[in-house]
Amino acid sequence: MRKPIIAGNWKLNKTIDESINLVEDIKIKIMDLDREKMPIVVVCPVFTSLKTVGDIIDSSKSIYLGAQNCYYEDAGAFTGEVSVPMIKEVGATYIIIGHSERRQYFGETDNAINLKAKTILAHGLIPIICCGETLEQREAGQTDKIVKNQIIADLKDLTEEQIAKSVIAYEPVWAIGTGKTCESPEANRVIKLIRSTVAEVSSKDAADKARILYGGSVKPSTIEEQMSQSDIDGALVGGASLDAESFAQLVKGAMLVTSK
Ligand code: 13P
Repeated sequence: MRKPIIAGNWKLNKTIDESINLVEDIKIKIMDLDREKMPIVVVCPVFTSLKTVGDIIDSSKSIYLGAQNCYYEDAGAFTGEVSVPMIKEVGATYIIIGHSERRQYFGETDNAINLKAKTILAHGLIPIICCGETLEQREAGQTDKIVKNQIIADLKDLTEEQIAKSVIAYEPVWAIGTGKTCESPEANRVIKLIRSTVAEVSSKDAADKARILYGGSVKPSTIEEQMSQSDIDGALVGGASLDAESFAQLVKGAMLVTSK
């Protein structure tokens, strides 16, 4: 049974005050929803807002906190980095790693993503490991190979138990922030490929348990169709997570499918 996840990646948006307003609004809008049927809701603000947002959602017990990145060493001479124990200290449960924006603009490699995943899991937190092809790669017919290779490298040497706990997000780069959603059957096909890759490198049991999300221009108008696919276990949302009303609608849309 895989409980769905709706995670909001706020990216480089929202000051502390704006973060407070957004999370308070989200709290109010999902307050009356049935907890049993509700997906796991995660918000991922910038580092400077993490503690404040964490303190606000702590009391609600219905929203989890996530960070957008981390470093794989716990402490030391690594200027500008933030470690997993520090993120844990402010109450986060999830950490996004390998987002295509980090791969593209900050040179994050599969090796670094793998090291980060190991550290996150060693500290009892949950990685949201992102993968996905660029438009160029899709047009060259390389989607399956690219995504498979990313997953194999990112999950290297993780135990079955660790993989079962992990979350993977398939985010085709060409669908991020473009308004162009990947057709649901195609997103489901790639996600099935990811699941079978997980089974190959780990076990069928781990593959059946790991949650695999879709990300890329997810909107309230697309969520129901996405969630009704056999292998899509939720969404990692950028733009539509910055507005409390649309984020709440995504949570409600996901409730139509409670578990897979
Ligand atoms: P958008 O929902 O804005 O396309 O962003 C998706 C994303 O990158 C989430 O991590």
